[in-house]
Amino acid sequence: MTTPQQPRANLHQSAPILILGGGLMGLAIAHQLARRGEAVTVISRRRSEAAGFVAAGMLAPHAEGLSGALLQLGQLSLGRVPSWVAQIEADSGLPCGLRSTGIVVPFRSSTERDQYPTAAFGESLDRGQLHQEIPGLAPDWAAGLLFSQDGQIDNRRQLMRALESACVDRGVHFQEGVEVLELLTENHQLQGVRTRNSEGMLNTLRCRKAVLCSGAWSAQLLPELPVFPVKGQMLSLQTPRGALRRVVFGPGTYLVPREDGLVVVGATSERDAGFSEGLTPQGQTTLKDGISGLLPQAIDWPPMERWWGFRPCTPDEGPLLGDSSVSGLFLACGHHRNGVLMASATAELMADLCSGTPIRDDLAALLPHFRWNRFKPTKTPQDRLVSGVECS
Ligand code: GLY
Repeated sequence: MTTPQQPRANLHQSAPILILGGGLMGLAIAHQLARRGEAVTVISRRRSEAAGFVAAGMLAPHAEGLSGALLQLGQLSLGRVPSWVAQIEADSGLPCGLRSTGIVVPFRSSTERDQYPTAAFGESLDRGQLHQEIPGLAPDWAAGLLFSQDGQIDNRRQLMRALESACVDRGVHFQEGVEVLELLTENHQLQGVRTRNSEGMLNTLRCRKAVLCSGAWSAQLLPELPVFPVKGQMLSLQTPRGALRRVVFGPGTYLVPREDGLVVVGATSERDAGFSEGLTPQGQTTLKDGISGLLPQAIDWPPMERWWGFRPCTPDEGPLLGDSSVSGLFLACGHHRNGVLMASATAELMADLCSGTPIRDDLAALLPHFRWNRFKPTKTPQDRLVSGVECS
């Protein structure tokens, strides 16, 4: 962060709100702000690397076994999804691929099932019911939970496209292929950002407000943020039509059936991979073993596409939301496995914060749990403990 040499106090009064990151979070926030009549510019380095193009699109606070404030945020966001999707579809004229397929989580025993953190929110399935829900499931799965309130959205091929189109329709400006190099501040107040485009040209954009939503790369701009990448490798399979009706969320592997017969298979969770690009033999073997352990017949379904991406993770796997150490800069990053699920609530929250609208009570009550500096060392004898989260 540096101070601009000649800050011009009035220059940026009419400057747009800058959205630093053109992934799902950035587009969702830009769209909500534009709907409220704000001038918005999205700055995006390389849209294809956004987690929104990589994720499986599960809307799964219960199936993923979330707990505490993260579960509450997930539930709140899940509840907003239908109206959020309706707005995007109305503005863009494009479908988002929202499907209420429900999600089944299989277990090795009924004891394991009953101990699942979100068991109380699901319908208990015995062995017979489980195998009726998921024909072809490997025989050693003995019990299950059906979360019919969870679902999925086709983020990769529909939601991202529809959101971008909705943003354009609402007058959002885009700067593509542009990297934000640094934040410009004066007395801890945001003044603008310095950027470089794909041809190497440097530029300064003035603003009073911005939202940092650069996914796994967020700490590159604000190094104090505890955001790091967790790589995921995935693939899709072409299935016989109707072969899988519900999402199956097994330990380490899940299968997400799309409308058109594709099944998205995810995902490795590689904490030591950093930003290393590409597929790996080990990652592909993990996925293959996961498929045959869940649904043996699926191993014969032809693979269509393979890809990878980087989840933006934090030490407690919860997002960083709200104010930052820079006045005027808001944070919407670190959603780890739950970005698609939490996009709707995050977009509403950021639009409220940036436009100075009161935040609805239930969302406001959750905000302290997601402050960026909740990980600061506490004064306990064990100095490796930060806010109850063990650091390695
Ligand atoms: N939410 C699924 C994943 O991140 O793999």
